[in-house]
Amino acid sequence: MRTIEIFDTTLRDGEQSPGVNLSTSEKIEIALQLERLGVTRMEAGFAAASPGDLKSVQEIARRVKHASVVSLARSTMSDIDKAYEALKVAQNACIHVFIATSPIHREHKLRMSKEQVIERAVEAVKYAKKYMHEVEFSAEDAGRTEIAYLAEVVDAVIKAGATIINIPDTVGYMTPLEYGNIFRELKLRVPAVSNIKLSCHCHDDLGMAVANSLAAIEAGATQVEGTINGIGERAGNAALEEVALALATRKDIYQAITPLNLKEIARTSQLVSRLTGMIVPGNKAVVGANAYAHESGIHQDGVLKEATTYEIINPETVGFKSNRIVLGKHSGRHAFKEKLAELGYQLEAEQIDEAFVAFKALCDRKKDVSDDDLLALIDVKLFAAQQTYSLESVQLSYGNHSTPTASVHLVKNDGEVLTEAAIGNGSVDSIYKAIDRATGEEVTLTDYKIVSVTHGKDALGEVYVRLQQGSINVQGRGVSTDVLEASALAYIRAINKIIELRGQTLVTS
Ligand code: KIV
Ligand code: ZN
Repeated sequence: MRTIEIFDTTLRDGEQSPGVNLSTSEKIEIALQLERLGVTRMEAGFAAASPGDLKSVQEIARRVKHASVVSLARSTMSDIDKAYEALKVAQNACIHVFIATSPIHREHKLRMSKEQVIERAVEAVKYAKKYMHEVEFSAEDAGRTEIAYLAEVVDAVIKAGATIINIPDTVGYMTPLEYGNIFRELKLRVPAVSNIKLSCHCHDDLGMAVANSLAAIEAGATQVEGTINGIGERAGNAALEEVALALATRKDIYQAITPLNLKEIARTSQLVSRLTGMIVPGNKAVVGANAYAHESGIHQDGVLKEATTYEIINPETVGFKSNRIVLGKHSGRHAFKEKLAELGYQLEAEQIDEAFVAFKALCDRKKDVSDDDLLALIDVKLFAAQQTYSLESVQLSYGNHSTPTASVHLVKNDGEVLTEAAIGNGSVDSIYKAIDRATGEEVTLTDYKIVSVTHGKDALGEVYVRLQQGSINVQGRGVSTDVLEASALAYIRAINKIIELRGQTLVTS
């Protein structure tokens, strides 16, 4: 059996999903969960993109102990300097430099000749090597690059010291056979490839990212790159949980294992979905809510007699368990702390106290508190973005023949209390107009979704909003037993995030 290394880029390529903007604390929470999942490398961001990105990569580099932390860098000295500045505190780190190699990118984007591209790539790898041993080189749009030229680039950057070579299908254009053949050709044309790690990185524009990644693994790739839930630029990246389960379920074909702790997959998927606001479709392979549900009578009958009749993956393999309700208003601090540890949180005493107060407040509104309720509560309470404004109270007057009127009391982080009222087209609209007045922020609501965390009349409602202000797009999430309160909380969190991001110039890869 070969071991295929897992390079997670949820926090970099995944965060390039339209409208997704994670705060530093949200990125740290995802990074710590990726470490529990057991990824080999995690790309924490693109340090040169903005001071906020650099800070996030640095914080992750400080906290993560086992996985190698990676920062992306264009093939320029200043990008590589920033990547090093962010990564130098890490126990294990890797600088990931890239430059486009395809004719389309060379001619229209870079306006550089073949020779100039090679020269720049070699200089960049040599420069990054001064800082650290592990340097990954990506030939952007490798899929559409002439194979002879790609081999030349790969040979040159290996000679310059690259330890990992990544062959991205940047635009999701390849078919499995074609993509696998690139790896076969490189192994034939560049003997030095056998001394380095060879990585695949696929986008899903034609829905073939996972199939292409598996084809590359069959053809000799030793590392696979992707994101949790397949989030990412445009149609997204290869979904790592799908690749991992394909390898685990079809060991007979692939003869390969991964270092992942598969039982952490469900939790990681749910965390990424909650924090990015990118809801996992019910029919999504491996992690969708319906992936293990059997509707037809014939299927139900078969599964009851023998699960493997219609189930090729046991849901417990990826960490799905039935929602046992264990905590309620009589639960003490000790039981609460134990439960948090079981859910994977290692919190400081102060954080546990803060979460316990929120838990007790929830018990006053909800009889039974499930694991999902707790997860939703902890993320909002402890991993919220920098709080410029917080909600003190919201009041609403509504009648089906009258105009909804909302009044809100917000508290600013300097202690100032802001009170405003507004009328609107509906309850949520009036709340949002009152918040706009109180904060003075001009924002556009581009998306609004309500999801129920658990079932029942007292279920927690989760509201996701997306807001835009100029070029800044953010998502915010609010959780409450009352959807109007959850709506206000989500909106305020998104505004806080805009304030945190404002002023930072963003560059994307
Ligand atoms: O898809 C791509 O080409 C990338 C590179 C920057 C590695 O994400
Ligand atoms: Zn990519």
